[in-house]
Amino acid sequence: MDFTVETATDAVVDSFRETKDQRLQQVMESLTRHLHDFVRDIEPTLEEWEEAIDFLTAVGQKCDDTRQEFVLLSDVLGVSMLVETMNGSEEGTESTVLGPFHMTESPSRKLGDSIDLLDAGRTCVVSGRVLAADGTPIAEAELDVWQCNEDGFYDVQQPDVQPPGNGRGLFRTDDEGRFWFRTVVPSHYPIPTDGPVGRLLEATGRHPYRPAHIHSIAHAEGHRPVTTHVFVADSPYLDSDAVFAVKSGLITEFTESDDGQDAQRFGVSAPFAHARFDIVLQSEDPQ
Ligand code: BEZ
Ligand code: FE
Repeated sequence: MDFTVETATDAVVDSFRETKDQRLQQVMESLTRHLHDFVRDIEPTLEEWEEAIDFLTAVGQKCDDTRQEFVLLSDVLGVSMLVETMNGSEEGTESTVLGPFHMTESPSRKLGDSIDLLDAGRTCVVSGRVLAADGTPIAEAELDVWQCNEDGFYDVQQPDVQPPGNGRGLFRTDDEGRFWFRTVVPSHYPIPTDGPVGRLLEATGRHPYRPAHIHSIAHAEGHRPVTTHVFVADSPYLDSDAVFAVKSGLITEFTESDDGQDAQRFGVSAPFAHARFDIVLQSEDPQ
């Protein structure tokens, strides 16, 4: 049968009929159908299609060990958050995007350590507990945190200014499920705009900013891990995050504390900013 606008989709779908992996076949069939419908909808010229291929090529070429432009593309299109939300737990802490700045694993630190290796800003204490859905504290839960500095840069974006591991830490909760560490209050910041995704935002009149946040991934045996953020309550851009990752339940006050006893307990001097939040993990196989 001749390849025409009408027969194209069936021809390509049919070409996958011998695929052994059923899931792969389902994915390729759906991808083909949606992609062909998209093309029939926008009716690209040959030049426009070439431009699209050049764009995706540039996205790939921008990727290296510390830069993931494809993740960024998925983020600004809302796909990362869609996948996160569809896979999120129903009763635990809500999940958000991983983002491109999570490096394999953060350096191991002791409870109470500072992740602000440069001692560079206004002191902030972050504390809370990791809990099971029924409220039971989870001891020995692993909490991997990473954040930008007060100027809005991650360590990997400023290798000449920040030592590797600045703003990062891997903590383990104590017997009562508690965690606490010292840091600085992160700033809002623009996602990287010096690549094709930045050009896309510019061309579509979108701003590149994310509201201030601290990332975390919590793991505990017998529970589903969660990748999430704590958003700073008074940050700009909470209503227009460039990657659509804000969920109201994750917005947390970073209160100014003058509590001398707390200051002593956390090894800081008052006044200091204090963010408290708990992370709730859903059990691996809910009954
Ligand atoms: C981040 O929060 O680190 C991030 C997330 C998505 C895109 C860019 C940065
Ligand atoms: Fe971030």
